Amino acid sequence: MDVRDHPGIPVVSRRRFLKQTFAFSALAAVGSPFLGCGGSGPQSGNDSPGNAAAAADFLVIGDWGTGDANQALVAAAMQSYVTRQNIATGAMLMIGDNFYTPMDDGANDKRWQTQFEQMYPAGVFNCPAYAIPGNHDYEYLPISKFSAQLEYAQKAGTRWTMPSQWYRVTFPTANPLVTFLALDSNMPFGNGATRDGTFYCMTAQQRLDQLAWLKEELAKPLTTPFLVALGHHPIYSNGMRGDTPMLVQDWDPLLRSSGAHVYLCGHDHDLQHLEFAGHPTSFVVSGGGGAPLYRIVIDESVRGPYAVQVNGFTHVTVTPALMTLRHVDLNGNVVHAFTKTTDHKVTIL
Ligand SMILES: [Fe+2]
Repeated sequence: MDVRDHPGIPVVSRRRFLKQTFAFSALAAVGSPFLGCGGSGPQSGNDSPGNAAAAADFLVIGDWGTGDANQALVAAAMQSYVTRQNIATGAMLMIGDNFYTPMDDGANDKRWQTQFEQMYPAGVFNCPAYAIPGNHDYEYLPISKFSAQLEYAQKAGTRWTMPSQWYRVTFPTANPLVTFLALDSNMPFGNGATRDGTFYCMTAQQRLDQLAWLKEELAKPLTTPFLVALGHHPIYSNGMRGDTPMLVQDWDPLLRSSGAHVYLCGHDHDLQHLEFAGHPTSFVVSGGGGAPLYRIVIDESVRGPYAVQVNGFTHVTVTPALMTLRHVDLNGNVVHAFTKTTDHKVTIL
């Protein structure tokens, strides 16, 4: 199906996007239609220069756990970027495919040191690393790598944070600015199968349980200015993996009705930012953390405003009134950036 004909979802090309600069603020001015978001946070609108301390930074990487030189290149770029700009990283979001290939000793495997603790050193990234599972984390090689990750999070002193299969956390801890809903996007395979070769996925019941949980969480009053949902698989993607129909069915309506500001994902090995006319949520793919790149299938001129086959990571700054998201390449160059207000106005920088 041509994306331009996607039922009920007008796409936004870069050209059209730049012409109209998304204005959900106009909607919000006459009363926000969203249940949870839209500047209702306790600190909303308090973004004066005198309140400059009320800002927090976090980094996002997806599809990073290769253990090879390319992962190290992205990790080095992250270190160089935050050091050069004196950015105090408050959190890292590890959005799946955290460990490719076998992990013989599970939570005690030496890869925890080489591919996580040392690769993203605490001396630079002295912060929690909130993690969710990707499809490769669901492999049994030879044991469940997902179980190993849940177990490793229980070890004393690690920054690795994965309290359960799906969870809610606010960031930063003091005076939080954003609510993360960390989701498991490993939906059941066709006909509800939970195994395909070495890959496993959640059960049909877990899908329903998570969906019920997500609805409950979105029904709660939002205590932060911004709401961000995380999943490994894209709901929408211009890359080889494409859209995920089950997530379009299950999650998109909830993000839309709750006014979630951003859906962050990986799985496609590239960097993207997609907007849909009339949709409050920005769809951001950050899958350039180290694995071999995938080609872009839908050009950003057709559905955008940004989709490029490039390694890198995403740097997000949050203040009480504004989120600024930047895709950054291996050379530390910001290759795409935009801001989003609490009332969903998006501006390309
Ligand atoms: Fe993946």
